[in-house]
Amino acid sequence: MALLKDQVAIVTGGAQGIGAAIAERLAAEGASVAVIDINLEKARETAERLRGAGVEAEAYQVDVAAAEAVKAVVTEVVKRFGRVDILVNNAGITRDGLLLTLSEQDWDLVLAVNLKSVFNFTKAVARQMIKQKSGAIVNVSSVVGLMGNPGQINYSASKAGVIGVTKSSAKELASRNIRVNAVCPGYIETAMTAKLEEKARTALIDHIPAKRLGQPADVANAVLFLVSELGSYVTGETVRVDGGMAM
Ligand code: NAI
Repeated sequence: MALLKDQVAIVTGGAQGIGAAIAERLAAEGASVAVIDINLEKARETAERLRGAGVEAEAYQVDVAAAEAVKAVVTEVVKRFGRVDILVNNAGITRDGLLLTLSEQDWDLVLAVNLKSVFNFTKAVARQMIKQKSGAIVNVSSVVGLMGNPGQINYSASKAGVIGVTKSSAKELASRNIRVNAVCPGYIETAMTAKLEEKARTALIDHIPAKRLGQPADVANAVLFLVSELGSYVTGETVRVDGGMAM
């Protein structure tokens, strides 16, 4: 039996990488998916693939940092699909730089796209989930939010912030039958990590107990557990998907 039959999911940053893998995994369990991304062309390709797999899917172009646009798209999704059962806040960016050279713009941009976005979507979707008396939210943080990383002051702050939002919203929403959890991927093979040089890559793998980088599907499987009935008594939790890296 499909785990997510008749359910509707919103996946942000669903056009490619981890977000696309999550959208595909949820769809494989029967969920209809709203693919939200700033890149409409790629979001459409993902939605097309999902429809090919037999579920309903729609692509929407939204900047997740823009509160009004987020509110509007959630209204549109509810109009189109009738409900929202699952929200995965996955969209994220990096603008790396060491403390002394990191610009104010790059601080503001990363905090807006990676952290404010989670507030924007959680707020907009929670209203609907409260009405429905159920829901599950997963926020994509990072091991860097747990450990810190030189050159990623802005990114690690945003990802640590995501864990704070996760725990506070989990406490606020638990009595409404809405669960909120976070996943912390380690190094996953996507466009975000493709820039890594071979030498750095080998050094990195050396520090990962599992001795390999992760795949987007590894993260998607953890998300599926958290949003489905398999995780029905789990809330406010942060699940590392990192081959043991941050242990
Ligand atoms: P990616 O760069 O392949 O995909 C990110 C997606 O988010 C893209 O489709 C992009 O267009 C979209 N996006 C970016 N800014 C947006 C905005 N303002 N509004 C709407 N959509 C926007 O990245 P990847 O690797 O798939 O990362 C997904 C999430 O996982 C991110 O939050 C990232 O921080 C997190 N993560 C990734 C890790 C990795 O090793 N790849 C490790 C830990 C966390």
